[in-house]
Amino acid sequence: MKSAVFSVPGLRRLPWLRKDGTLHESRLTSLFSTAGVCLTFTALSTMPSVYIKTYGCQMNERDSEAVAAQLVAKGYTLAVSDRVADVVLLNTCSVRDMAEQKALNKMENLAAEMRRDRPEVVLGFLGCMAQSRGRGLIDRLPDVDLVLGTQKFHRTADYLDEILTGRRDKVVDVEEEKGSEATIKEHLLNGNAQTKSVTAFVSIMQGCNQYCTFCIVPYTRGMERSRTISDVVSECRELVSRGVKEITLLGQIVTSYGKREIGMKDGKSAFVQLLEAVHAIEGLERIRFTSPHPKGYGDDLVEAYGRLPKLCESAHLPVQSGSDRVLKLMHRGYTRERFLGIVEKLRRVKPEMGVTTDIIVGFPGETESDFAETLSLVREVAFDNAYCFKYSPRKDTPAAAMPDQVPQEVIEERHGRLLDLVNEVGKEKYRRCVGQRAQILVEGPSRKNGERFEGRTRANRIVVFEGNERHRGRLLDVKITRAGSFTLYGDPAIVNPD
Ligand code: 5AD
Repeated sequence: MKSAVFSVPGLRRLPWLRKDGTLHESRLTSLFSTAGVCLTFTALSTMPSVYIKTYGCQMNERDSEAVAAQLVAKGYTLAVSDRVADVVLLNTCSVRDMAEQKALNKMENLAAEMRRDRPEVVLGFLGCMAQSRGRGLIDRLPDVDLVLGTQKFHRTADYLDEILTGRRDKVVDVEEEKGSEATIKEHLLNGNAQTKSVTAFVSIMQGCNQYCTFCIVPYTRGMERSRTISDVVSECRELVSRGVKEITLLGQIVTSYGKREIGMKDGKSAFVQLLEAVHAIEGLERIRFTSPHPKGYGDDLVEAYGRLPKLCESAHLPVQSGSDRVLKLMHRGYTRERFLGIVEKLRRVKPEMGVTTDIIVGFPGETESDFAETLSLVREVAFDNAYCFKYSPRKDTPAAAMPDQVPQEVIEERHGRLLDLVNEVGKEKYRRCVGQRAQILVEGPSRKNGERFEGRTRANRIVVFEGNERHRGRLLDVKITRAGSFTLYGDPAIVNPD
C-alpha cells in the first residue's frame, strides 16, 4: 500500500496529508483504523517544520529564539526558508509604521502563494503587531491561522498542535498573562561544536511604564514586570555551563528592572543588585545590557562600571533629541544638560566607554533650530554610532494627535543630514582606534566576509581579523590596524605571538 485514503474533518491541516486526502506513508510509523471511522496516530516519524521571520528589536529576536527552542523541544525541525516550511510565523514589530507594513506585505504574499501551492501550511502572526491588532489581522488576511500577543509566546507549541491536529481552526490570543515575563527562557545555542554560541541574550523583564509620547511599546508590551534575580541568574548559569562567555541582559527599560518587585538595597537599585549577582557567575567573561533609560543612570550604576570588571564599558543611551523643548514634548524626563552630564560621569569612570544612541527626526513641532540642537549634541557627545529614525505616528499615542506634524519631505531631508553627521563622527571615532590595542571576544566568522573571523571589543566595536575555529570563544588581544565603516580590522599575531 503506497498511501491510505481517508477523510476526517479537521485533519486537513496535517502537513503529512496530501491535498487529495491521501497520506504520505513515509511520514507515519503506524496508523490504526478502527471500523474505518476513528484514526489514531501513534507516532509520527517526521514532525512539521517551522520558519520564523523576525522584525524589529533584539527583544523580538530573543522571543523568536525562545519560540524556536520551544518548538524544537517538541520535535519540530527548523526550516531553512518559508518556501519549504509547514508552519510560517512572523514575529512582528509595531514601533514604526514601516515595520508593520513590511510584515503585512510579507504575509499577504505568503498567503497568496500558500493558497495556490500549499494550502495546508499554517500561517501565524506573533508579537507586537499581533498584540495591537488582534483579530483584525485575520479579518484582513483570512488565511492567517494564529495571532499570538506578546504575553503568549510560550503557548505557541500548544496552539500549533491544536491547529495542526484540527482541534481548532484559528487561534487569537492577546490576553494579559500573569507571570509571562518569566516565560522567555529557552535558548537555541546550536549544540554542535562548530557553531556554538559564545554570546546570549537573557530577557530580564517585560513591558514599559515610561509612556514617551511617541511610543507604542507600553500598549504592545504592557506594564513593567520583572523576573526574580535568582531566576535570571540560574538561566545565565545554565548558559555559561553550555559555553556562553558573554551575556546581554535584555528589557524594554532595563534600568527600571525590579523597581516595584525588588526595590533598593544598601543604596543599590534592583538592576545593580542583578548585575552583581550575574557578575558572580564563574566562567562568565562579559556582561552587557540593553536598553537602559538615560535617567536610570544613577550613581550606583555609574559606579558599578568601575567596580565590576565583567561589565563592559559600552552604553546604548537613547537620547531621541538634543532639544529641551522636544525632549519635554516627548516626555523623556531629562534635559540635554542632564544627558550630557550622564555621559560625562560614565566617561569619568571609564574613558574608553563606547556610547551609541537612538534619535528620532521630525517629532511633531520639531523646528529647524530644535534639529540643529540634535546635530550639535551628536558632535558634542561624539557617539560611536546612532540609530536614526524618521518619526512615525503610532495609534493611540499622544504625539500622533499633536499639532505641527512635520512634513515628510522635511523629515527626509533632516534624516539625510543627520545620517551624514553620524557617519562623519563615527568614522573619526573608529579612525582613532587605529594603532591601539583592544581585547576582543571572538564570536565566529565575520558577517561581512565569511573567510575571516570577528569579535567585539569591550566598547562593542566589531573587529575583523584573520582567524579560524580555534579562536571561537577566546578572549584575544588585538592590535587595530585599520578602520572601515563601523568596523575595525585587527591583528592578533602582533599582540599574541604563537
Ligand atoms: N517613530 C519613530 N521612531 C520611534 N521609535 C520609537 N517610537 C518611534 C516612532 N513613533 C524609536 C526610538 C526608540 C527606538 C527603538 O525606536 O528611537 O528608541
